[in-house]
Amino acid sequence: MENSVDNKKILYITTPIYYVNAEPHLGHAYSTIVADVFKRFHILRGYKTFFLTGTDEHGEKIVQAAEAIGQTPREYVDRISALFKGLWPRLNISYDYFIRTTDPEHKKTVQFVLNRIYEKGDIYFSEYEGLYCVGCERFYTKRELVDGKCPDHQKEPEVIREANYFFRMSKYQDWLVEYINNNPDFIRPERYRNEVLSFLKEPLEDLCISRPKKRLAWGIPLPFDEDFVTYVWCDALVNYLSGIGYPDDERFYLFWPHVQHVIAKDILKPHAIYWPCMLKAAGIEPYRHLNVHGYWNVEEGKMSKSLGNIISPIDVVENYGLDPFRYFLMREMVFGLDSDFNEDALVNRINADLANDLGNLVNRTLTMAERYLSGEPPISYEPSEYDIKIKEKALACIEEYERFMEGFMFHRALICIWDVIGALNKYIDVMAPWGLAKKDKKRLSTVMHYIIEPLKIISVLLWPFMPSSAERMQEMLGLEKRGKELRIQDIRVWGKTSSSHLKKGAALFPRIETKSVKEKREKKERRILEKEKRQEIISIDDFSKVELRIGRVLEAERVSGSKKLMKLRVDIGEERTIVAGIAESYSSNELVGKLVVVVSNLKPARIFGIESQGMLLAASDKSGIHIIVPDGDTKPGTKVK
Ligand code: MSP
Repeated sequence: MENSVDNKKILYITTPIYYVNAEPHLGHAYSTIVADVFKRFHILRGYKTFFLTGTDEHGEKIVQAAEAIGQTPREYVDRISALFKGLWPRLNISYDYFIRTTDPEHKKTVQFVLNRIYEKGDIYFSEYEGLYCVGCERFYTKRELVDGKCPDHQKEPEVIREANYFFRMSKYQDWLVEYINNNPDFIRPERYRNEVLSFLKEPLEDLCISRPKKRLAWGIPLPFDEDFVTYVWCDALVNYLSGIGYPDDERFYLFWPHVQHVIAKDILKPHAIYWPCMLKAAGIEPYRHLNVHGYWNVEEGKMSKSLGNIISPIDVVENYGLDPFRYFLMREMVFGLDSDFNEDALVNRINADLANDLGNLVNRTLTMAERYLSGEPPISYEPSEYDIKIKEKALACIEEYERFMEGFMFHRALICIWDVIGALNKYIDVMAPWGLAKKDKKRLSTVMHYIIEPLKIISVLLWPFMPSSAERMQEMLGLEKRGKELRIQDIRVWGKTSSSHLKKGAALFPRIETKSVKEKREKKERRILEKEKRQEIISIDDFSKVELRIGRVLEAERVSGSKKLMKLRVDIGEERTIVAGIAESYSSNELVGKLVVVVSNLKPARIFGIESQGMLLAASDKSGIHIIVPDGDTKPGTKVK
């Protein structure tokens, strides 16, 4: 069954394709780890899987981001897309294909899909005036705005009036409502399904799907009008088709009927409304499930560049390790709800769940296996009622785990596993194998068997979440098959996963010393303070430390050997020598007798061998340097406030 394709055992899982206007952060990492965990879970179930991720590279936002740093859109998208692509292996993401919307194949698919909808008569040309948010790359209706602003970007949208192409989305409203009602888990969890249904109570407007090329050239040309490019969302959503070679490739026929999307709530509307309508219009079946998660916040606020609180996944991984990071994200967030990312919670979970509960269990078990059994896999003789209870608990966990995993309730799947871990720790305490070692070898072997078999099960169930730690565990347990070679159906049969020699390795999850966490946090706070210091905001007290005085230039001469510097003698109530970089804009004649503003309490500095005892205030732009002068004849030495 593994090689021939069982039509039911197929999974196609996607992440959003991320905009390249920002570097990858915790939020992107989370969605991609979710998709990875889901794919790996299906590998354990013997499914044929395909996992697609990638980058969204067209649109106004990208052009603006590139312009801001003086790069061409092409240079810019190549650089940021590579950052995403380079991050995924570091998070152990097992994607199968990385799509970029600037790929020529993607372009062809977008044009093919649009042509199909056009030929069907569902695209028309019309004049439109609307409220457009560049951040979201979409038009807003008035009722969607909060205090007249885009709720995501807190900015007033621009009023844009132009002729454009429109997709007759309104035509599909009734069909969509009926489809959602008939397929209760089409959009899940339920809260998002309800949100979509409630939005669909109002009439659906048609969707503007083009931008005039003269306003935005960075996009895919419409196949039926070269003067327009595709609206970025129509381009982006189609990645889910082009990523599996629609329309010609057999991967499309194999995988599309099993597609599930993972997104966060921010892009619910394009995925839950535009996308099914577009698919319907193009004559393609809708996706199976849209799985929507909440937002990771930091200290209960949104992550944002301006707040400087963006969490870089690599920083976390470098400080705490990859598997603990993956575990924390999946355990802490209730899929569908928002969660707060904070390092104290992360450290608590690492120390309590991973180092104490699981790590100690593995460690003490393998120590005993080496000491009392010389690493031989233990045999069960006559199991007691308690032994059977442990076995039943471990086997029941597999069923619950599968149900929760299928339903994207990852934290609950993990809770089930930790129930078994807790039960095993207790079982060891009660059975005290160290006591049995001396008096009853058969009983010892039986007890060890009822610890080691559940541990094998646990190692398999944990693999999607923490692939390398699970494989290390399997190595210690002496499993012959490991990682992706193992199957859930094998662990359902007690004792089927054969193992050879058991051997203790280094601790799976070292404890994080809270002292070092404190140090790290303090270091981070210092970094933020330093950053603040570097950023121009100062208090009035800071400003009042600067002493400014009116001065009159008494003498001015060029500094020999320098094109820019001028040596000045200035009366500021006392005489000072000041070296200023103004020689390219002023001659000494222009300067002598001039009133100037001087920073008078600056620490003296040697410039070209001359001690400069202050600084002139001046402004420079393309036209040159302009000295700041008082507006009126002010007495030298007067303080400027
Ligand atoms: N390019 C579009 C998606 C097109 S898909 C056809 C886009 N890109 S994005 O870079 O803004 O990514 C949005 C997605 O990143 C979210 O839906 C989510 O998957 C992830 N996250 C971004 N910030 C997040 C959090 N703070 N928390 C959790 N996930 C978030 O929208």
